[in-house]
Amino acid sequence: MTLRPILIHPDPRLKKPCEPVTEITDEIRAAADDMLETMYDAPGVGLAAPQIGLLKRLFVMDCVKDPETKPRPMVLMNPEIIWASDDRKIYEEGCLSIPEQYAEVTRPSEVKVRWLGLDGALHEDHFVGLWATCAQHEMDHLDGKLFIDYLSPLKRQLITRKMEKLKRDRARG
Ligand code: NI
Repeated sequence: MTLRPILIHPDPRLKKPCEPVTEITDEIRAAADDMLETMYDAPGVGLAAPQIGLLKRLFVMDCVKDPETKPRPMVLMNPEIIWASDDRKIYEEGCLSIPEQYAEVTRPSEVKVRWLGLDGALHEDHFVGLWATCAQHEMDHLDGKLFIDYLSPLKRQLITRKMEKLKRDRARG
């Protein structure tokens, strides 16, 4: 497994709709493994393929935060929300492509998701709490949408400027 560099906003690859996974190739398996390792290393609870520059409908997540609980690494391809609760919840979200910036986003508090697993089978699960927020945040990435797109233009611009500065500082070393 290899750690992959995580793209930082603003980057045109983070704004593009991704293509469905049509075949579970060795490249896809390797990307999923690398994405899990990269996510745990960051550390984060979710990572979408476009964040490593792979424009495929694929994301990984593990929202188990309690160190006493067994990890639950999940790989979801071509995910679809098949049901969302009317009940909504506000979470303070962040993103590995927008480091150290957090903002409140309102989303359905529960969702049912169907996806293709690495085993080639379709899976379904009902997500609540952080899992539901994370799944929706990651699925947005596959449509080229970031959590800052839910904020006011002013707040979004402020965060984008900070990220542009961060990228300039990193480029200078
Ligand atoms: Ni994100």
